[in-house]
Amino acid sequence: MLAIIGGSGLTTLSNLDVSHREVVRTPYGEPSGAIVFGEIAGQPAMFLPRHGYGHTIPPHLVNYRANLWALHHHKASGIISVASVGGIRSDLQPGEIVLPSQIIDYTWGRKSTYFDGNGAPVTHVDFTEPYDADLRRRIREAAATLSVEVKEGGVYAATQGPRLETAAEIDRFERDGADLVGMTGMPEAVLARELGLPYAAISVIANHAAGRGSSANGIRFESLEHVLQEAMGKVKSIIEKLVGSPDSAPPMGMSV
Ligand code: HPA
Repeated sequence: MLAIIGGSGLTTLSNLDVSHREVVRTPYGEPSGAIVFGEIAGQPAMFLPRHGYGHTIPPHLVNYRANLWALHHHKASGIISVASVGGIRSDLQPGEIVLPSQIIDYTWGRKSTYFDGNGAPVTHVDFTEPYDADLRRRIREAAATLSVEVKEGGVYAATQGPRLETAAEIDRFERDGADLVGMTGMPEAVLARELGLPYAAISVIANHAAGRGSSANGIRFESLEHVLQEAMGKVKSIIEKLVGSPDSAPPMGMSV
């Protein structure tokens, strides 16, 4: 069963036919909210809003370890993470959808591993390719079936937040090779990897990054709210197609 983690602009999944909700207690504390279970297009799925149902948990205070642990505990077969981001690369316009392929982690002080000296053997997970190739392919194929344009690949710069970046920081990220910037991509991706959960991200460009394009003199999200909402509508339809497509169903006779 796929799990969807929703970010800003996707705090509920209206196409999820809800069967029940469950508050999960974890060894790492409270997840951002109850996990919602149900069906999308006839297939089981679960949903968790990263910032809580009231959108009250800022990126640096999200309990990423509890969130991923809870989804793993409930037998998620993979995670699709949805988040809004700022576009650094000049061709990335507000409202566009990007499937990032790489990450640079600029966050600090977040609890970013399950192997933190609690008696577990020292473990160094491979993170060469942070996103799962098969899940990314399925997102691409679902989008193609719907004729929804998604941009394939890009380097995601994960920042600490909650403040936005300075123009010089964005210049630096670009020199480093980053194409988009967001505050929640890490440690979510690496915790999924530590748990062995396939993980892929759908990034929606909410704004030009600081100092770029329409954000040359500051970032004003309000004026772009409708663009974000329209793009999130497309993301919901991609998720519906992906979860509901026969490809994502387990082979006949196989139990999950
Ligand atoms: N920077 C960081 N995170 C973001 C941005 C941004 O410009 N837009 C949406 N999330």
